[in-house]
Amino acid sequence: MRIGGVEITALARLAPMAGITNAPFRLVARECGSGLVTSEEMDAAALLTNHPHADAIAAHYPEERPLAMQLLGKDADLLARAAEKVEGLGADIVDLNMGCPMPKITGKGKGAALMRDVMGTALILRALRKAVRVPLTVKIRGGWDDEHLNAVEVARMAEAEGVDAITVHPRTRSQRFTGKAPWTIIGEVVEAVSIPVTGNGDVRSMAEARRMVAETGCQSVMIGRGALGSPWIFDETFDALAPAAQRERKAQVIARHCELIRTHFREKYALIQMKKHLAWYTEGLGHATRCRAEIFQTRSADEVWDVFQRYWTAAPADAA
Ligand SMILES: Cc1cc2nc3c(=O)[nH]c(=O)nc-3n(C[C@H](O)[C@H](O)[C@H](O)COP(=O)(O)O)c2cc1C
Repeated sequence: MRIGGVEITALARLAPMAGITNAPFRLVARECGSGLVTSEEMDAAALLTNHPHADAIAAHYPEERPLAMQLLGKDADLLARAAEKVEGLGADIVDLNMGCPMPKITGKGKGAALMRDVMGTALILRALRKAVRVPLTVKIRGGWDDEHLNAVEVARMAEAEGVDAITVHPRTRSQRFTGKAPWTIIGEVVEAVSIPVTGNGDVRSMAEARRMVAETGCQSVMIGRGALGSPWIFDETFDALAPAAQRERKAQVIARHCELIRTHFREKYALIQMKKHLAWYTEGLGHATRCRAEIFQTRSADEVWDVFQRYWTAAPADAA
């Protein structure tokens, strides 16, 4: 798939997830085969004030590229200036978040609230289109709620405003992340526009990713929660490996991820990130619940690593 001038060679890619898809996790996902990675949402206003948190979110490794940076906001001028900034920082694609369902975001007119104001969002996209030369994309939901399913209308508007590609997470804002994602809406958007459409929602394996493509006609697939604790989901060769080789590959990826976390973040935040990701990596290990409880008691990166290693080594060779 091509998004503007950016070639994306793999079918599946990592979805943006706030507090999770930071530089170390994105790089690991890229190395496992994710065709593109996207920063977590970055508030345009915060980014422009050089807020330390926003700067940390914008940090990335050159090896992650192609990298999309996602903006959150509702003010066309602020968003356009933030887009110029992230283009300058190395974004290969600028993505507008039109899907965040959190009340603290939608209450300020941002995220999924943009789906309710199609004309206003057209003006935002026009300003963004003028502001950057890199491709512009949007990530939308099925609509605000079941009474307002307007993904097709929003997608047509976005295409008319010069957007290069669209990601559809077909749940509505009111569904948040519950219930089953209605993939049919992805297919309706594919039918309605000629720009590439990426489908997203409930994909837990490459086989499911291919099923989504077959059922909806989307050109690529974004995987979020299915990649937590298993970034090797993007590795097309992984499933064919023998159990021992799979375990070896997982061990390498986990060690690489933790090393990146420890070198990228300051100690306190590195520990938070290691706890979070190592807890996900316990999935499938024997005594995972006990291991997770011990992980959350630890007070240093060395300690959390030792706890994980103890359970990993004790697990039978065909576990995890
Ligand atoms: C913890 C969490 C944080 C998320 N943060 C973002 C975000 O920053 N930007 C965004 O567009 N979507 C965000 N999402 C939505 C995901 O990108 C994705 O659309 C959603 O999880 C559905 O895909 P999945 O079923 O593959 O997880 C987030 C989802 C989760 C679970």
